[in-house]
Amino acid sequence: MTDIAEGFRIRRASPADHSALLEICLKTGDSGKDGTHLQDDPDLLGLVYAVPYQVFASDFSFVLEDAIGVCGYVLGAPDTQAFDDWMDRVWYPPLRATQRNPGPDASRWRQSDWVRARIFAPRRQPPVDLTLYPAHAHIDLLPRAQGKGLGRAMMLTLTNAFSTASVPGLFLEVGLANTSAQAFYARVGFHVLDQNPDCLVMGRTLGKGGGP
Ligand SMILES: CC(C)(COP(=O)(O)OP(=O)(O)OC[C@H]1O[C@@H](n2cnc3c(N)ncnc32)[C@H](O)[C@@H]1OP(=O)(O)O)[C@@H](O)C(=O)NCCC(=O)NCCS
Repeated sequence: MTDIAEGFRIRRASPADHSALLEICLKTGDSGKDGTHLQDDPDLLGLVYAVPYQVFASDFSFVLEDAIGVCGYVLGAPDTQAFDDWMDRVWYPPLRATQRNPGPDASRWRQSDWVRARIFAPRRQPPVDLTLYPAHAHIDLLPRAQGKGLGRAMMLTLTNAFSTASVPGLFLEVGLANTSAQAFYARVGFHVLDQNPDCLVMGRTLGKGGGP
């Protein structure tokens, strides 16, 4: 557990944090802003992009907490290929059993359908060199925690954990519209690896200590 500025602390996430992960994922799910209005199922985003990381890779899942409660997370998968295999084999089948398949035609998708489409036809990982960047990550903080240096502290917590486990690098994806997060990632050592119609793929290698 790490105490940091202004009554915030970082600790490992646990299954008891799953509902907070779901909520934070939703509240930051529109290019970093509240995405509640965009989803017809409030849990689905977090059931794909947050909770499975705590289940699959609990050593690399951290939450930020203050007196009010959990207000941020950073979640990582040290081996992206192993994570994707596990999602397909273990995590998605129960979701497929309860969700409607919206089909492949994106022009017919409404609200949470694009997330449902990911569940039924998982997207291929971006074209990054997985020997250099085998891990990937997600970070989201609620507005009350933003702009205080806490995102940097969270990212350092994760990259330190990756370095300790001899993970050589990580990548992440950030929406083209989310220029704030792009600026943040650049400040904490990431550079652009690739760009597709929806997002930038950014990555960084890790030395000892997880810096900068
Ligand atoms: C993006 C996010 C994780 C950044 O965390 P944060 O705590 O707000 O950022 P920090 O205060 O730790 O900033 C770290 C550095 O990034 C810089 N930075 C952060 N946001 C920035 C912005 N919008 N523009 C320019 N620089 C920015 C800071 O100036 C700081 O630089 P310095 O340490 O060299 O002085 C956080 O704002 C967030 O969760 N946003 C909403 C959800 C989101 O967009 N997640 C990413 C999805 S891909």
